[in-house]
Amino acid sequence: MVGIDIGSKSIKVIELTKESSKWNLKSSGAVGYSGASPDKMIDEKEFVALAEILKKTLKQIGITEKEVNISLPEQLAFTRIIKFPLLTDEEIVAAVKWEAEQYIPIPINEAVVQHIVLDRREAEAQTSVLLVAAPKIVVEKYVKVIRLAGFNPSSAETELTALARSMSPEKGTSILLDLGATSTDMAITRDSKVVFTRSIPVAGEAFTRAVAQSLGVNQSQAEEYKKTYGLSTEQLEGKVKLALEPIFRMVVDEIKKAIHYYQSEEKGEAPSSVVISGGASLMPNLISYLTEVLGIETILGNPFAKINLEPETAKSLSQYSSIYGTAVGLAMYD
Ligand SMILES: Nc1ncnc2c1ncn2[C@@H]1O[C@H](COP(=O)(O)OP(=O)(O)OP(=O)(O)O)[C@@H](O)[C@H]1O
Ligand SMILES: [Mg+2]
Repeated sequence: MVGIDIGSKSIKVIELTKESSKWNLKSSGAVGYSGASPDKMIDEKEFVALAEILKKTLKQIGITEKEVNISLPEQLAFTRIIKFPLLTDEEIVAAVKWEAEQYIPIPINEAVVQHIVLDRREAEAQTSVLLVAAPKIVVEKYVKVIRLAGFNPSSAETELTALARSMSPEKGTSILLDLGATSTDMAITRDSKVVFTRSIPVAGEAFTRAVAQSLGVNQSQAEEYKKTYGLSTEQLEGKVKLALEPIFRMVVDEIKKAIHYYQSEEKGEAPSSVVISGGASLMPNLISYLTEVLGIETILGNPFAKINLEPETAKSLSQYSSIYGTAVGLAMYD
């Protein structure tokens, strides 16, 4: 099974094989790209150019399987929990079809809608269902890139749905954060199921810009400062941290608001851990910073926790493994 996560700045690919109930990593790889991400593409040439990059990358990694699972950018998806009476699975399919329209901000015939039954509570005579919807037009653009590269998308799901599969703690209430280049995506999970999502349009690129502006250096210098010093107070007299803090505070405020909403409106439990992933999660001192400002224990996610790895592979992946969270989750889908 192959998972392809097309981010706004990089593509991550994972191939897994399954033996009885154990997953093995067959291949992995990542490649950066410049230019528009598929959702912003208009020109045929842009689709072809990205498809070429993808095709070359998949060949290099040694992917021969044609069926692949892909992710859709979280910021373009809508998720909502809706409550139904105690219905059967078939009844829920019908109910979702009839009622989805009132919960999503796009016309139903222009949307791809999926749903997941979260729980059935006999005592309250209630079924909770997570509704996930994305504009058809966006889904079609991602499908187009994959097809042009010579592959066939057999499923598409939102990034956080896939990420939760590979990284979410099995029990309890947790927060998953995917800190990418253009967005920080957040999920609250309960017993490993996504129950809440939010996409915050601030991430790695904004962090670099803040460093560049504040320190008066160019983008590539700022990128290097960000990656080497991050939120450390000991380096460069803490200047990089000072530059980053205001923008991190925005992200942290959004996370706190989301937790508050989940606890007050959804009557959810307080999250007991934060699991971080994505390129920007590798920033020095981020873990201790988040632990402190959120007051919740924060850890770097390991998407390969449920996967067998050769010791050599584990070693070579170790430093960057957290960028593969979504791709691993996609490859685990069956
Ligand atoms: N060691 C590091 N420290 C801080 N930031 C880092 C580090 N390594 C990579 N990054 C940042 O991670 C970002 C890229 O992350 P990632 O590959 O997860 O993005 P993406 O999936 O393409 O984007 P998105 O998910 O927003 O669409 C870049 O902004 C890059 O600067
Ligand atoms: Mg990403």
